[in-house]
Amino acid sequence: MLTTQQPVLRRFWYPVMPIEQLLNGPQAFTLLGQPLVLWLDANGQPAVLADRCCHRSAQLSLGIVENGCVRCPYHGWEFDSQGICTKVPQLDADTAIPKTYRVPAFQCAERYGYVWVCLDEDPLQPIPRIPEFTDPSFRFIQEFYETWKVGGLRAIENSFDSAHGHFVHASSWGDQSNPQPPPIDEVTETEFGFVMKHWLEVLNPDLQKKNLGIGEEKTIRTNTRTWYMPFARTLKIDYPNGLTHFIFTAYTPIDDQTSQVIQFCLRNDTEAEAKAADIIAFDRQVTLEDRVILEGTDYDAPLSLAEEQHMASDRPGIIMRHRLARLLKEHGETEQRRSDRVAPATPAKVEATR
Ligand code: FES
Ligand code: CO
Repeated sequence: MLTTQQPVLRRFWYPVMPIEQLLNGPQAFTLLGQPLVLWLDANGQPAVLADRCCHRSAQLSLGIVENGCVRCPYHGWEFDSQGICTKVPQLDADTAIPKTYRVPAFQCAERYGYVWVCLDEDPLQPIPRIPEFTDPSFRFIQEFYETWKVGGLRAIENSFDSAHGHFVHASSWGDQSNPQPPPIDEVTETEFGFVMKHWLEVLNPDLQKKNLGIGEEKTIRTNTRTWYMPFARTLKIDYPNGLTHFIFTAYTPIDDQTSQVIQFCLRNDTEAEAKAADIIAFDRQVTLEDRVILEGTDYDAPLSLAEEQHMASDRPGIIMRHRLARLLKEHGETEQRRSDRVAPATPAKVEATR
């Protein structure tokens, strides 16, 4: 699936940038192939327009903020958060600005310290609700904001793949002598995706022991993973000592091949019990282990099951592919693919067994 070629994906909210980055003036971000300029308006609220001036196509993100508007760097026209041109320095004060001097505006909101953007006027789902964010027993730890060369579906599928850990994460928490993925206890489909629960027995390397306040070599933890269509998830890890390690991760689609990885963590312990820097260091190691593998995968992940082979632990990813295929169908779209992709080995045979 090529994310930029499926218009229905424009109908979801995506986190795009920590809000504090906007304190540095207008910022550029590309979402689903759409170049955007983001800034803070006169009320300190985020504003998002297409990053292309309607005069001579200059990038507004190279301009400055003036009176809560973004000022084009080329001839100084100013645009408000609705994309309406509010000032043309070359016009006399008593000449009206033509109504056609306008740049497309998009919906945006601040949540969890990030600016979220929806490219469509009519989002299909709200921004994911994370009650732990406002729960005073949880502390907020900002983890990652970085660009990976990976397609959105590959990345999000990996977050629900319980078989890769013992291999990809062999240096952090995996256990290659015990490669059987745990059985998935339940997958409950929701309006926005699904919730999946399972038990997982994992090794506790030294840093992890310190972070968790758990001395044992192994712990059985309960994982609750929630998928928010199309490319975001939360992972709630409950440990036997009462600790909850909650992670939000979004793979915001920049284009077909690239995702902006956004991750923060919420924990119900204190800095004295586990240093934020140590928690980030461990999650960083795990995340980089995923990154190496994911950046080597084909960004054009197929929704059809015929092109790739599958095993039982792929169930969450298979549900995702079915749900996304259904989403496209419901909106009158067909899956768009890379034109030069490698032909599948045995498409007809596998298709027949679906
Ligand atoms: Fe923006 Fe001329 S290109 S004001
Ligand atoms: Co992983």
